[in-house]
Amino acid sequence: MSTHQEFLRGLPKMEMHLHLEGSIRPSTAAALAHQNNVMLPPHDKVEDLYHYRDLKEFLDIYTAVSDSVLSADDYRRITYEMLESCASNNARYVEFFFSPQVHFVHGVSFDTMIGGITTGMDDAKADFGVESRIVPGVNRELGPAAGEELLDMILARKEERLIGIGLDFLEAPFPPEPYGDLFARARKAGLKVTAHAGESGPAAYIAGSIDALGVRRIDHGYHVVTDEALMRRCRDEGILFTCCPSTAAVTSPWTVLDADHPIRKMADFGLRLTINSDDPPMFSTDLGEEYRKAHDLLGFSPDMLRRSILDGIEGSWLDDGEKRALSVDWAREIDALIAEFRSIPSLST
Ligand code: ADE
Ligand code: ZN
Repeated sequence: MSTHQEFLRGLPKMEMHLHLEGSIRPSTAAALAHQNNVMLPPHDKVEDLYHYRDLKEFLDIYTAVSDSVLSADDYRRITYEMLESCASNNARYVEFFFSPQVHFVHGVSFDTMIGGITTGMDDAKADFGVESRIVPGVNRELGPAAGEELLDMILARKEERLIGIGLDFLEAPFPPEPYGDLFARARKAGLKVTAHAGESGPAAYIAGSIDALGVRRIDHGYHVVTDEALMRRCRDEGILFTCCPSTAAVTSPWTVLDADHPIRKMADFGLRLTINSDDPPMFSTDLGEEYRKAHDLLGFSPDMLRRSILDGIEGSWLDDGEKRALSVDWAREIDALIAEFRSIPSLST
């Protein structure tokens, strides 16, 4: 190992904000579309599809690519490939979203999806040692009644790796409050909860997610920097933000990744946050590259990255014993890496 990139890639990582369908490689998108006779939007090379100006344009492509995932084996393949990429970036524990409601439209059953996904998880665990959990995302554009139906399916499946639910897709004009009953039922049934908020939507959606949905975790959350009282509250309450630099540069108003970016301000303010990759091939990135951007562009020091990794363990949905063991082991491993590479001139301290 000689460069600081390799140091960053070598850090043991949590991945806590990653979408299964957003992890479909261009070559796999083309192969599945061909195999399943699904038309992708007009394009020359599939890579060309993966360009957008904002969240809405991105979600249209995300949905179009998702449309070609149909059989259990398709789900197995995309899950395995996603986790292979995580493992190659030294992500050892992954909590990933997927979007069941996109696929219901095409008549795919929840059991088909979960069957394929869990097989992909088992195969990836056997081949790469990566541990993972599934977090179905409730599409906030479709309304609470559709979300309730999805929750029924999740609870009926009784798969213990179905660990929680999220709330995603377009933020405004879809505030979190109408999902309060649904999230309360999920929590009561033992599911963990998280919500996308404050990515393209206002700080009020962050507060609303905490108050109405009972989340302790916010996916993205960059608009928190526009409301200092809310920042203080999130710091005091230990809310965890799962941040994704490359996505933030497209889907939030803060398109320049530098030391003035909200992600850096959030860290400097003392908010708990993790670095994640969201929809990596769709934003030409991977988890190692997100760490590189955090270090090189946002100016995260090795100690700040260490803190974010340990905050991730603490805010994860592992059980308490697993969290404790992982924290001790990884802190030791990270400290050794930092000591070894303090001497690299390009590594900011
Ligand atoms: N689904 C996949 N990526 C997303 C994002 N960044 N925001 C909202 N929904 C998403
Ligand atoms: Zn996301």
